[in-house]
Amino acid sequence: MARRVQILAVWLVVCVLPFGLQVRASHGVKEEREKRQQREEEARDRIVELPGQPKVSFQQFSGYVTVSRVAGRALFYWLTEAVHEPLSRPLVVWLNGGPGCSSVAYGASEEIGPFRINKTASGLYLNKFSWNTVANLLFLETPAGVGFSYSNRSSDLLDTGDRRTAKDSLEFLIRWLDRFPRYKGREVFLTGESYAGHYVPQLAREILIYNKRSKNPINLRGIMVGNAVTDNYYDNVGTVTYWWSHAMISDRTYKQLINTCDFRRQKETDQCESMYSYAMDKEFGNIDQYNIYAPPCHINSDGSATATRHSMHLPHRPYSMMFRKLSGYDPCTEKYAEIYYNRPDVQKALHANITRIPYKWTACSEVLNRNWNDTEVSVLPIYKEMIAARLRVWVFSGDVDSVVPVTATRFSLARLNLPTKIPWYPWYVKKQVGGWTEVYEGLTFATVRGAGHEVPLFKPRAALQLFRSFIEGNHLPKS
Ligand SMILES: *[C@@H]1O[C@H](CO)[C@@H](O)[C@H](O)[C@H]1NC(C)=O
Ligand SMILES: *[C@@H]1O[C@H](CO)[C@@H](O)[C@H](O)[C@H]1NC(C)=O
Ligand SMILES: *[C@@H]1O[C@H](CO)[C@@H](O)[C@H](O)[C@H]1NC(C)=O
Ligand SMILES: *[C@@H]1O[C@H](CO)[C@@H](O)[C@H](O)[C@H]1NC(C)=O
Repeated sequence: MARRVQILAVWLVVCVLPFGLQVRASHGVKEEREKRQQREEEARDRIVELPGQPKVSFQQFSGYVTVSRVAGRALFYWLTEAVHEPLSRPLVVWLNGGPGCSSVAYGASEEIGPFRINKTASGLYLNKFSWNTVANLLFLETPAGVGFSYSNRSSDLLDTGDRRTAKDSLEFLIRWLDRFPRYKGREVFLTGESYAGHYVPQLAREILIYNKRSKNPINLRGIMVGNAVTDNYYDNVGTVTYWWSHAMISDRTYKQLINTCDFRRQKETDQCESMYSYAMDKEFGNIDQYNIYAPPCHINSDGSATATRHSMHLPHRPYSMMFRKLSGYDPCTEKYAEIYYNRPDVQKALHANITRIPYKWTACSEVLNRNWNDTEVSVLPIYKEMIAARLRVWVFSGDVDSVVPVTATRFSLARLNLPTKIPWYPWYVKKQVGGWTEVYEGLTFATVRGAGHEVPLFKPRAALQLFRSFIEGNHLPKS
């Protein structure tokens, strides 16, 4: 190395110095200018205080990163730094699914973020199980069209799919790290739930490809996904099996579903769709599909709803089933976030919606969801790549979710045929069984007992334990 530097120096003096000096000088100026610009951008993004926010000791930033100049696409992020020693903690990206749902609405405000929105949407209170007690959290609204993320080319909302989401999210991450140089080289973990079961591995794959050709590789160390859409066929078979094994549907309906549905196709036959409809309309009853043992939606005497359900649907499900969910089969849709984040003072504090987006902020974008362009049939091949790249891979599952249930995840993961390293055991949190886990070569699977689809919402303490073990690279506690 030293020799090479010497030879290079000689070569520099002899051949390039006369005019190289000039180039270098202007390069230095350029670097200075870039640094100044970064500092300014960072300062612009700093959140002083959100309306109704309790005092906190950590720093927050939010704003836009342009991912396509041609189209005018910009993604919105919100960084809540770690409570202690943010400089030595990893950077954790959190993504929600849908597709079309916002990480600000769910991840940040209901699940893992430091703040919860109060009932009147006039203030925030602290979540004592926030994951920023362990790491720096970067909530990203992706793709453009979700939440505050936008595109100036309105047709983008009609042809976005897995592909663009992954490419734009990578572009975002590269440019975001330019804006926050102190995070360059930092350990990065990608996390998320539900349809982010696609986003997270797909973004990991993009990063692995990018790292091969980049001088500034992103220090990706691992991924963790919960109740994650993984493989159309095994997810769908696992889902109807869950319905049957949890006595939500009859033997007859189960058999008919298994015998008439293809489970691979995006559009099922009418016969199969009508079986789905029958199961949901005639057999399910008024339950919360995202947490089958939770009390169903309860409308209070003052007309407000308790229960924090939201609609979300998955692209590979039969259309009628998606439509039913999105059209609000559950009247208890969480509205606090939609009130809070549409407040002009909140948007100002967040540096959001600076271009006057021509529609309201919503927790999920129906337009994106309905027009989803492309979806991978299975992301299991990416799991093989991630394992080969020695990333830490954790998959968890709240075991009372019937939308992407634990059986779906187990059927899917079984296809990886991974050898067992530590056999199945119960893991503990505060002397209680938090769930069960099995450690495979290259992958850790864990359930969270009694948690619905949004695990950190239903079981915040257990979810934090899971996250801490994941980040620290430890197995889940045996007692
Ligand atoms: C979108 O258009 C607005 C208004 O012309 C402009 O201010 C903004 O910079 C554009 N966004 C991007 C990402 O180019
Ligand atoms: C919500 O927060 C605001 C601002 O802190 C406060 O004035 C209000 O009383 C809170 N409402 C509820 C129901 O907690
Ligand atoms: C953006 O702001 C405009 C008003 O300037 C408002 O009408 C619109 O609903 C907002 N959109 C979002 C996505 O926040
Ligand atoms: C839409 O999906 C098709 C087929 O999967 C793909 O070839 C095309 O690139 C996608 N379009 C965009 C804008 O990503």
